[in-house]
Amino acid sequence: MRYGDFDDDKREYVITNPRTPVKWINYIGTLAFGGFVDHTAGALICCQDPALNRITRYIAQMPSSDFKGETLYLRMRRHNGYGVLSPFFVPTLDSFERYECHVGLGYMRIISEVCGVRTDAAIFVPLGQRCEIRDIRVTNVSDAPIELDLVPVVEYTHPDALKQLTNADWVPQTMVSKVGREEDGLTILVQYPFMYRDVRVNYLTSNRPASSFECDRRRFLGDNEYGTWARPLSLQQPELDNGETLRGDNIAALLHHLGPLAPGETCRLITQLGQAESIEQALPRIQHWRDECNVDRAFEELARFWDGYLANLQVETPDQAMNRMLNIHNPRQCYTTLNWSRYLSLYQLGYGARGIGFRDSSQDVMGVLAHAPDEAKSLLERLLSVQRRDGSAMHQFNPLTMEANEGDSRERPDLPDYYSDDHLWIVLAVCAYLKESGDEAFLEKQVPFYEKDHDGGALEAGTVLEHLRRAVEFTHSDVGAHGLPLLGFADWNDTVNLKAGAESFFTANLYGKALLELMELARYLGDVAACDQCRARYEEMKQRVNHYGWDGEWYLRYLDWDGTPLGSRANAQGQIYVNGQSWPVISGFATPERGRRALDAVYARLNTRYGIKLSAPGFDGFDPQRGGITTYPPGAKENGGIFLHANPWAIMAEALLGNGDRAFQYYAQINPAAQNARAEQYECEPYAYAQNILGDEHPQFGLARNSWLTGTASWAYQAATQYILGLRPGYSGLEIRPCIPHTWAGFQVRRAFRDAVYQVVVENPQHVCAGVQHVNVDGEAIQGNVLPLFHDERTHWVHVRIGQV
Ligand code: NOJ
Repeated sequence: MRYGDFDDDKREYVITNPRTPVKWINYIGTLAFGGFVDHTAGALICCQDPALNRITRYIAQMPSSDFKGETLYLRMRRHNGYGVLSPFFVPTLDSFERYECHVGLGYMRIISEVCGVRTDAAIFVPLGQRCEIRDIRVTNVSDAPIELDLVPVVEYTHPDALKQLTNADWVPQTMVSKVGREEDGLTILVQYPFMYRDVRVNYLTSNRPASSFECDRRRFLGDNEYGTWARPLSLQQPELDNGETLRGDNIAALLHHLGPLAPGETCRLITQLGQAESIEQALPRIQHWRDECNVDRAFEELARFWDGYLANLQVETPDQAMNRMLNIHNPRQCYTTLNWSRYLSLYQLGYGARGIGFRDSSQDVMGVLAHAPDEAKSLLERLLSVQRRDGSAMHQFNPLTMEANEGDSRERPDLPDYYSDDHLWIVLAVCAYLKESGDEAFLEKQVPFYEKDHDGGALEAGTVLEHLRRAVEFTHSDVGAHGLPLLGFADWNDTVNLKAGAESFFTANLYGKALLELMELARYLGDVAACDQCRARYEEMKQRVNHYGWDGEWYLRYLDWDGTPLGSRANAQGQIYVNGQSWPVISGFATPERGRRALDAVYARLNTRYGIKLSAPGFDGFDPQRGGITTYPPGAKENGGIFLHANPWAIMAEALLGNGDRAFQYYAQINPAAQNARAEQYECEPYAYAQNILGDEHPQFGLARNSWLTGTASWAYQAATQYILGLRPGYSGLEIRPCIPHTWAGFQVRRAFRDAVYQVVVENPQHVCAGVQHVNVDGEAIQGNVLPLFHDERTHWVHVRIGQV
């Protein structure tokens, strides 16, 4: 069963059945102001930080039918009172004649028809603004006049989002809503917790006179809140109570009489939900957004932003689901993870337990480099500023305060307080940024380390290059009994927390990859000594990984504190881990023969039709010694689930070994767009990667969860564009190294890179997977497969032939 379909021309997904298995969402705005809107127009909106400056109250765990954050009521006069309907389905759950939710680039547009009224509402945040616009058009599609009222409603939260849930004494005594009425009858409702009255206020207003308003949830629902959101008793009265509120649950509701609408007549209402230092300061902008032309222009500007963002890399392959992900939804999701990391979604609730994750965001940055290098650079700088002087990194930080912490390791004082992988990702991210941008000066930029003096000043700063150097230095000296990197609290797999002394093969391989990157950078910069040092360390770790890590048919994943191998055929559970196999290929530590065998073991033991499992077999029972992984039943999340973030690494490894058929098979089987036909079973949005799918040891095999904020977005994008299609940015040009299914006759890519655009046409007349035979740039054959740099802002035509070499 489907709940909707893709409209590639409009770059939308259109939901046509509002009863989706879980709420399907879309992101609007940025972390600076924005959040997500679900397909019933419920919205979670924040300014700069979901934990400390949240605006709307959206409790994701409540049933889908509940009011969440915002809605709109349509009210029709009837002879015996009023008919109250929800054009967005929730909370009155009417049967619609038509329902379409257009999930667009930075907007949600919901079109519905119910009882002769068509509502067409676009919800978005204008670029760079601190307000959410709801541009609502209602049309009488019946053949008789309709007397219509529109009532937009917002429910506020205390900005300290967790306190709203945990402190029912303090929060309600502080929440204030007031009205500021202007001469022409337009109404601004202002809201703030008392302590922020003079510095920061929220407001709801519209472009039409409101005849009455309500700020108190109790009065709006009526009967001491025995009235419900589905049937607010106040909407059965001709007017709302005009109630301000000095305490309690704050809402903002504005009643607009549109008057009788003749058949075919349309009326437009524009609402604004914003935040400002004061209403006086916000007034010019409030007036600006009351003008329909300005709203139209802002919507067009939003489209132009996305045109520009996406245009930098467009593909045409024989696979339609791949095209729609690579051209639209995947880079768009990468922009979302760049903004919200793992902080704010239906699953990562933004109450402050997490923040911007060091390892997560370092990986997210790599997904937007072709599209938004400047935004990537500014996130890189913030990340580097929470790296410690010893080269390791704080696990996560709060984006508003820049306070960082050690993540979940704080809950286990018996274990080390650092993650052995965090700091190494930034090496990959910075090098990827340099290759994309050519911005060598960035390496010399001074960035503080995290440690502070008593006045909060940084104890030390270093160049970006020094930060990278310290990152690998940390791992170089933080090794265990076998000379392999100590696990710390965990490596990439958060849920395997072993006693101090355990060693990680994953971190060893990530360290190897980081050294490869630094070697390449040193070579490019002409620093022979640095290059030699990296090479020596690389060879040393390669030798250790191969000496201690080969289990006979595949590579191990960990050595426990006492040297016991984990991820070995000797183990009853967790015998094989996918990351244990893909990463020795990515690091180049695996010999070609071992690499092939390790990847074949993945195919034989971990692959399923819905993706590759993280490990197998799953642990069956809670074991406090093993910790997090055993809290899940077999087949869920890290315990043998299809943890999608790790799948693209297997794609990359297969491509590195030249197996384009398998690389593409792995890509296609997890492509969310290809799950549309089984959406009832898959349950999550088909237009964004989910973090996990239940594996085949679980009775609900195939069910996805935790959509949107996942490293899958960045890595699936990198795997597809750089390893399958094979366009890899380098210091001195764009390398072309496709590894495609042999069935493809070719493909095309338009790629903006540095100061030019490359229009690349790849042909595969012999139907092979890989092997660049011939490259022609602007009609001239070139040596090798690195496209030269041009500085002319022009389009250059590239013809590539692959075949047996
Ligand atoms: C989700 C976390 O955000 C990510 O950092 C981690 O690598 C994976 N879980 C795997 O445990």
